[in-house]
Formats: sequence, structure tokens, C-alpha cells
Amino acid sequence: MSGAPDLLARHAEILRCPGCRGGIEVSAASLACQECGHRFEIEGGVPRLFWPDGEIVGQQALTDTVKSFYEQTPFPDYNDFDSVATLAERAREGIFPRMLDEQLPPGTRILECGCGTGQLSNFLSIASRTVFATDMCVNSLRLGEQFARDHDLRNIQFAQMNLFRPAFEYESFDLVICNGVLMTTVDPLAGFRSIARLVKPGGYVLIGLYHRYGRLVTDLRRLVFRFSGDRLQWLDPVLRDRNVSAARKRAWFADQYKHPHEMKHTIGQMLHWLDDTGFRFVKSIPRSRPFREISAADDLFRPEAPGNAFERLIVELGMIVRGRRDNGFFTVIGQKT
Ligand SMILES: C[S@@+](CC[C@H](N)C(=O)[O-])C[C@H]1O[C@@H](n2cnc3c(N)ncnc32)[C@H](O)[C@@H]1O
Repeated sequence: MSGAPDLLARHAEILRCPGCRGGIEVSAASLACQECGHRFEIEGGVPRLFWPDGEIVGQQALTDTVKSFYEQTPFPDYNDFDSVATLAERAREGIFPRMLDEQLPPGTRILECGCGTGQLSNFLSIASRTVFATDMCVNSLRLGEQFARDHDLRNIQFAQMNLFRPAFEYESFDLVICNGVLMTTVDPLAGFRSIARLVKPGGYVLIGLYHRYGRLVTDLRRLVFRFSGDRLQWLDPVLRDRNVSAARKRAWFADQYKHPHEMKHTIGQMLHWLDDTGFRFVKSIPRSRPFREISAADDLFRPEAPGNAFERLIVELGMIVRGRRDNGFFTVIGQKT
């Protein structure tokens, strides 16, 4: 086992073949399924555990399109971060990563599905948590893995994985994060079901999606860009921010305005998803009941009532205005019962 990425070797018991779900043997240069014998190479410290979808009609073609889109423009990139301190500083500027960092105890085992370049995962691994950061895009993973290696972050393992064909044992993680990913797949609910199985009983799932109304402003900007030949980019707050590097702006513009596939959801839909998979609603950001802004002092993992349909409608209509700032993004946390 010597030479194999250390974290993989230590957690070999939770690895599963994404093809047949057999156990995995870890060796220096590759992983091998003990059932079907399939070998998965480890290249540049990143095990290639990607397995095609196979089951859902139209899914594979879309997965391939989205994969090549992100291979060309890894998101969100690392150009602004030259040290762990800068990464942590920038991450803590967002209330949400800061709350996660403050409230997830050391030792928590986390899986991020669709980690992109892995900034959140790298950040969360700093405080002695075990983080598996997975994505189907190798170029993004390389950037994340390079940052972890350059800055000696040892509690994180990057891996190429298709969230529809997970390479982990069911019920292995205290927290599964899937932020800004499912809505780029052809069947977000099937994707949710697939990753929900990986959460331990009592553990949490955290999902970030585009909101149906919150995204209206972005949709409008997309139209303006299309008809103006991609001019007037100052309409987007990230694109006009002088503190954001040109590379990051390019990745942002491609992700927000040139994406080949994007779906939108509501908090009500998420309640159904949670119910359907044996989870209870814990919290949404923004909160699902009106006039209750989330603050850094809140307990992210303390369950709250989701509110009734009318309360949620008020919050969701408010997202049209918020969408100017947060690009119509909302997050829901559920707990496996
Ligand atoms: C918008 S980026 C979000 C990255 C990161 N979560 C963040 O919030 O910055 C979406 C990511 O999801 C990944 N992705 C999309 N479909 C996937 C799938 N089926 N399996 C694994 N990753 C996927 C893409 O490769 C891309 O890196």
C-alpha cells in the first residue's frame, strides 16, 4: 500500500467500485475492484474513479457535454489565492463557508460531489476534518489537488467521480455537500437520490441550486449579453468587481452565461426531495420563512420549521430582488432520519 495517497489507504474500507460496487484494494499506482477486477489509475494523486451514467436516457450525452465544458473552464479557479491564509480569508468572507467552518467539528467526514476546483473542500480540510473532494472534471481536480499539495493540506483527497455512480460505500459520510451541481445534470432528483445514500443516519446533506425566481435577473442579463455580443458585462456584480482577477471573471462568465444546461428549483421541490429520500428539512438559506435573515450566530444544523406554502412564496418572490446579488442561488440542508 505504500505510495498510495495516504488518506485513500486509511479509508479504503469506504471505497466502492462505481461499476459493480465491489470492495476496492488500494495500491501505489492504482485501485482495483476485488469483485470485477476493474483497475482505476491514480494520476497526479487523483484516482480516476469516473464511471459513465449508463441508465438515464439522454444523461450520458449531457454529462459528456457538461464535462467538456468544465474541462475547458475549470470553476471557480485559484488565481486569487496564493496561500492557505488567503484561501481561508476569502472563504470566511462568505457567511456560509464561515459558518460551516465554525460549526463542523474536527473529525467530521465530508464528501463534496461536484467540488469544481475544490476551494470549499480545501478550506474545510484545514481544521482536521477528513474531506473527499470529487468531480467529473479532471482539469478542475488537478487545480484543487495542486493547491492542497503545494500547501501541505493532508486531510483532503481529490478523486474523479460521477455523482450518478458514486465510488463510496453507502452511509459513510457525516456530511455530503453538492453545491451548484445538480442543476447542471439531466436528472437532478436522480442525482440527489444517488448522493443521499452516502449520508450516515443522522448525517446531513447540503444542496445548493439555482432558484426558479431568483435566477430571473441572471436570465435577463444572459439575454442582454446574447443580443449585445457579450458587451455590457458591467451589469454583473462579479464582472465589474475590480478585486476579481481576469481569469476568475472568465470562469464566472462562462459558468453563469454560457452554460450548456441549467435547471431551476424551489424550496417546495426540495422539501419533496428530502421527504422522498428519508431526510428531514433542517434549514434553507435564505430562510424559508419571511423576515428571518440568517446570521453567523445561527446554528446551521438545528432543524427549523420549513414554513407553509404562503410563507415560502413570500421568501421566494423576494429572491427575484436578491438574485441581483446572489445570482439566484439557494441552499438547503437536510438530515437523514
Ligand atoms: C458550477 S460548478 C460548481 C463547483 C463548486 N461546487 C462550487 O460551488 O464552486 C459545477 C461542477 O459540477 C461538476 N459536475 C457536473 N455534473 C457532475 C457529475 N455528474 N458528477 C460529478 N461532477 C459533476 C462539474 O464538473 C463542475 O465542476
